[in-house]
Amino acid sequence: MKHWQLNKEESGIVVAILDKAGESANSLSADVMTEFGEILDQFDKQPPKGLLIRSGKEAGFIAGADIQEFSQLDSAEKGRALVTRGWNLFNRLAAVPYPTLALVRGHCLGGGLELALACRYLLAVDEPGTKMGLPEVMLGIFPGWGGMLRLPKRVGPAAALDMMLTGKTIDAKRAKKMGLADDCVPPRVMEMAARQLLLSAQPRRPLPFMQRLFSGPLKSVVANGARKQVAKKARPEHYPAPYAIIDLWEKHDGNALAAPEIIDRIITSPTARNLVRVYHLQERLKGFGKSSDFKAKRVHVIGAGVMGGDIAAWCALRGMTVTLQDQTLERIAPALKRAHALFTKRLREPLKIRDAFDRLIPDPTGDGVAHADVTIEAIFENVEAKHALFKSLEPRMKPGAVLASNTSSLKLEDLCTVLSKPERLVGIHFFNPVAMMPLVEVVEADGADPAAVQAACAFVKQIEKLPLPVKSEPGFLVNAVLAPYMLAAMRAVDEGISPETVDEAMLAFGMPMGPIELVDTVGLDIAMAAGKQLAGGADAPRCLIERVEKNHLGKKSGQGFYDWSSGKAAKGAAGSIPAGLADRLVTPLIDRVEKLVADGVVADPELADAGVIFGTGFAPFTGGPMHFRQAAEK
Ligand code: NAI
Repeated sequence: MKHWQLNKEESGIVVAILDKAGESANSLSADVMTEFGEILDQFDKQPPKGLLIRSGKEAGFIAGADIQEFSQLDSAEKGRALVTRGWNLFNRLAAVPYPTLALVRGHCLGGGLELALACRYLLAVDEPGTKMGLPEVMLGIFPGWGGMLRLPKRVGPAAALDMMLTGKTIDAKRAKKMGLADDCVPPRVMEMAARQLLLSAQPRRPLPFMQRLFSGPLKSVVANGARKQVAKKARPEHYPAPYAIIDLWEKHDGNALAAPEIIDRIITSPTARNLVRVYHLQERLKGFGKSSDFKAKRVHVIGAGVMGGDIAAWCALRGMTVTLQDQTLERIAPALKRAHALFTKRLREPLKIRDAFDRLIPDPTGDGVAHADVTIEAIFENVEAKHALFKSLEPRMKPGAVLASNTSSLKLEDLCTVLSKPERLVGIHFFNPVAMMPLVEVVEADGADPAAVQAACAFVKQIEKLPLPVKSEPGFLVNAVLAPYMLAAMRAVDEGISPETVDEAMLAFGMPMGPIELVDTVGLDIAMAAGKQLAGGADAPRCLIERVEKNHLGKKSGQGFYDWSSGKAAKGAAGSIPAGLADRLVTPLIDRVEKLVADGVVADPELADAGVIFGTGFAPFTGGPMHFRQAAEK
């Protein structure tokens, strides 16, 4: 066998190790599955005392199905064949008479988790990389190899649907708590624990009474609740997969083969194809961090305001030691408070929260810069202030350390003039809110040292954001494409179309937030300033000027286009949407993307699509603005 290795132990246990040839991570390609079938054939004749399945990869257990094979599916027949292959194989595994156990260490996703669920026991190894999930929905498909059948039986339908409909992953401890893992052990005892559990004949923990009701007589209550939840986030015409998952679970006990028409519809839908494209785009962005050996341990952030404070917190959350500088301790305090809230939400365990908080060090005198591998400036948007700061920073920095500015609108070429090595300055442009936005633009100024730009990309990757290299032009990519879009939306308001109707038109198009609500969120003053810089001399919209004059600046002032006094935009009902409105609003955005690609601000159309999707939330099911236009022209 090419991918599997079998070790028979004295006890009669056979250990099957998956170590996919030629890859750093395991995926369930056709030949891996075929070989596994042959292993089961062999054991039909000569059953082992127990079968322990594990990975031979450092990276983790199994990352999922083979996405390359999935990308090549071009017909409904091939789609059905793919579902059949995994469904039958894992049913076979689930039915073997000898005990089976999946030893899960590191990632165990999609088809990998479906394999583990088909084993009698699942033992999770408690270490930071261990995560389990069924993320198929994010690719526009469903867990058709038994996940929809077996996960609800293990953890109850509500928790299972939550995992399958959001694609979220859970760690080892949580997996045990939910009943997904039979046990959770530290790495040093995993070998012994796996063998003990495998031969223990321990029965599976039964589902609690209510969960059994929800799996039987009250199934439709759960299904309807889930449909309502999904409807808040995704429209069925844009994202059919989550609705299919609920239907398949409710009506067919998770067996997609019982409803082949659903398989056909999902597998051949443009959404699935486009979301797979988005997945590949994301992988491409991650690749930018890989070309440099640069590795940061210490980060120094200057300016503890909206951006700097949150950038510092994010870096500490991702394991860096961070010093945070501002003019006084009082100015740093609110950032620390927000950081604590972030750590509490993301880390949950008190020890981990404390560790993260210990890594975030207030540093009003700026001593941290001497030790920092990366220094990020996020002070007021003012050239003189930044010049003065850079002059004092540079002599104190370590050689080879990255010096970055988070500026949105100033030219790096103007900022770097005061440096003795101007080529070392790069832009690392985060988006607000930092913790929510996956993209970070890495800005290359004229004359910048390519090694510095690559190191900046590596750093962005290291803190688990997606780096997008862009050239130093006003608005870079993301703000430059948003400006004409928001302008067109406000022009529509000037024409008398209500903000609600404008927003609804774009929500129906598939945007995560309407453009008018976006203006309110960004701040009307900021939108006004950005418009001056990025709208090519066009007059500001009347509706914007009037509101800014009244100091109605949006969410931050409690009133903008909407009333925000409750913390959320108070929206009235949308009117009927004028024909062609969405098209009219999105066209200037796509035109601008095309121009920026033509001007070389971003290297190619694929990267432009990636940047606009991950930087603005542009409807992912379309595959991105350039792809959307191409598809419309076909
Ligand atoms: P802010 O006004 O919230 O915070 C700036 C902080 O810098 C203040 O706490 C101030 O005390 C401090 N500061 C000013 N001069 C300083 C100095 N010489 N030494 C130490 N601290 C100093 O500003 P915000 O919004 O966080 O923006 C910071 C930078 O990030 C700007 O360059 C802006 O263009 C950029 N940016 C802002 C975004 C936003 O949505 N607010 C988004 C992306 C980038």
